[in-house]
Amino acid sequence: MKILVTYASLTGNTQKLAEGIFEALSQKEKEIRPMMEVDNTDEYDVVLAGYWVDKGGPNQEASEFLGKLENKTIGLFATLGYWPDSEHAYGSLKKGEALVEEKNKVFCRYICQGKLSDKIIDMFKQLPEGNPHAITEEKLFRYKIAENHPSEADIALAGELFEERLQSICLKQE
Ligand SMILES: Cc1cc2nc3c(=O)[nH]c(=O)nc-3n(C[C@H](O)[C@H](O)[C@H](O)COP(=O)(O)O)c2cc1C
Repeated sequence: MKILVTYASLTGNTQKLAEGIFEALSQKEKEIRPMMEVDNTDEYDVVLAGYWVDKGGPNQEASEFLGKLENKTIGLFATLGYWPDSEHAYGSLKKGEALVEEKNKVFCRYICQGKLSDKIIDMFKQLPEGNPHAITEEKLFRYKIAENHPSEADIALAGELFEERLQSICLKQE
């Protein structure tokens, strides 16, 4: 069983998570590459694909990548600015899953918070009151919390989850 861990990452959060997941995998046949460097996935049985959340779903590069996958066993992981246990987070994973579920099998999913870039926070700060993205005390607090993510605990949990679920898949195939 050959595994590809691949990711799209603008500011490094999803890359950090991908690298942690990759390190945690005990399988010998594994590779990690950024999505932009993956032209062909024919040689892999399992693809663990990570994206950053953009407008409540996978970022564009990841959407295009996911839409091309066929006959793979897929694990999805993502980072987002909002709370990881929210409907928004759940929906962001489901949107990724919707892109692959018809032609592939999704066996595992994980999402956690990721630090928002200073650029986007500065942009929000310029917005007038009443705009849905305008800054509030609560949002500033959430951005502060997000600065600590993905945390070591997030990364360890994701690694453990994917490793355990992959082991279970290996048993099924025996
Ligand atoms: C243009 C843009 C759009 C974003 N849209 C969302 C969003 O819809 N929901 C959300 O929770 N976070 C959103 N975020 C926050 C990112 O998903 C989050 O910071 C993520 O961890 C970035 O990952 P990266 O460092 O791998 O690029 C957005 C960030 C950017 C720059």
